[in-house]
Amino acid sequence: MDNFIFHNPVKLMFGKGQVSNLAGELKKYGNNVLVVYGGGSIKKNGVYEDVMNTLKDGGLTVHEFGGVEPNPRLTTAIAAADLCKRANIDVIIAVGGGSVIDCTKLIACAAKYDGNPWDFVVQKAVPQDALPFGTVLTLSATSSEMNAGSVITNEETQEKYGWGTPFNYPKFSILDPTYTMSVPRDQTVNGIVDTMSHIFEEYFNESSNTPFQDEMCESALRTLISTGAEVVDNPNDYDLRATMMLAGVWGLNGFLRMGYAGDWGTHEMEHAVSAVYDIPHAGGLSILFPQWMRYTMHLNPQRFAQLAINSFGVDATGKSDEETALEGISKLEEFWASIGAPGKLADFDIDGSKIELMAEKAASRGPVGNFAKLGKDDVVQILKNSL
Ligand code: NZQ
Ligand code: ZN
Repeated sequence: MDNFIFHNPVKLMFGKGQVSNLAGELKKYGNNVLVVYGGGSIKKNGVYEDVMNTLKDGGLTVHEFGGVEPNPRLTTAIAAADLCKRANIDVIIAVGGGSVIDCTKLIACAAKYDGNPWDFVVQKAVPQDALPFGTVLTLSATSSEMNAGSVITNEETQEKYGWGTPFNYPKFSILDPTYTMSVPRDQTVNGIVDTMSHIFEEYFNESSNTPFQDEMCESALRTLISTGAEVVDNPNDYDLRATMMLAGVWGLNGFLRMGYAGDWGTHEMEHAVSAVYDIPHAGGLSILFPQWMRYTMHLNPQRFAQLAINSFGVDATGKSDEETALEGISKLEEFWASIGAPGKLADFDIDGSKIELMAEKAASRGPVGNFAKLGKDDVVQILKNSL
């Protein structure tokens, strides 16, 4: 087990009606609030009304910034940060999924910075200050509501990178499963795929003696498979949505990766794909992950076999580790296909013409991944296998 320091300061308020705590939480940081949201789903499902009513009842001064796009853009964050500066905003509330929350993280840092906030994303500068912010989550997937990560797209250079700073931890997050009932089937599937992928990224690592973490990851995956299969057909089931919401938070809030470095190469490859083609993050993951597994399995077949047995119920009797592992990967593909996740780049009309470009972007910052340290040629091969 690797040494680690764990510190996660995010206050979670989970369950139906928790939005009633919103005004009180925000007032701890000031009265002048900016509400950040996406393309308008919150205006159709009642979440906007709930949020605005609590803020009004709480006597807060409210400003709005809507229109954050999926795969949030640098220019959007800059525009919202300018508004924060002009309106002397004290605190921000992000209302939405991972994109709105990730964008809010950059807005919060950019509001206290005079340069181009892309500097933070490419590590040319380190944030020295930021506005405080909270979140009202409407889509379970990224765990951005309880981590310090943020993924931003620079549409001009077609780059999409993750970045982090301790300022990126929300002060609090409100997680009401009823707010996720309006998430359409395809985005619900994306949430399942993304959460499972976070656990895979954590699970494949070079650490030894990690039985406790392994079992938590393996059992979390079993729950995601069984609950995921049900929730896509029962979107208004509170209990199923609640389980998915908790699982989404745990996927990437740091608990499951204590003592593990993890891999994260598939996320790097996917960010390169969605930087060039602007496809949903999890759509890319569901195509790339099984191919990454097949390509890297030789590094530790026993590990892949353990996953196949403990998460996918593969019977290993009389089989080699390689055979067991391959059966597990097939079961993963079957599960994702059964809930409607894409399986090939062709599903997004992506052909082989930009594979070199995507591989270059993925490998531009050094080896792709930690468990499997892939170079550009490896990425080219995995992308070709994904066509
Ligand atoms: O824009 P609105 O109108 O809100 O609609 C969104 C969007 O179209 C919609 N939606 C959200 N909640 C809804 C809803 N529709 C109906 N009812 C609701 N309750 O869903 C669409 C997708 O939303 P988005 O926020 O883009 O999805 P997600 O949460 O999957 O976030 C994806 C982004 O997060 C990044 C990804 O790369 C991508 O840019 N990631 C962030 C991570 C992090 N911060 O730790 C880690 C992840 O691995 C990931 O890379
Ligand atoms: Zn992800």
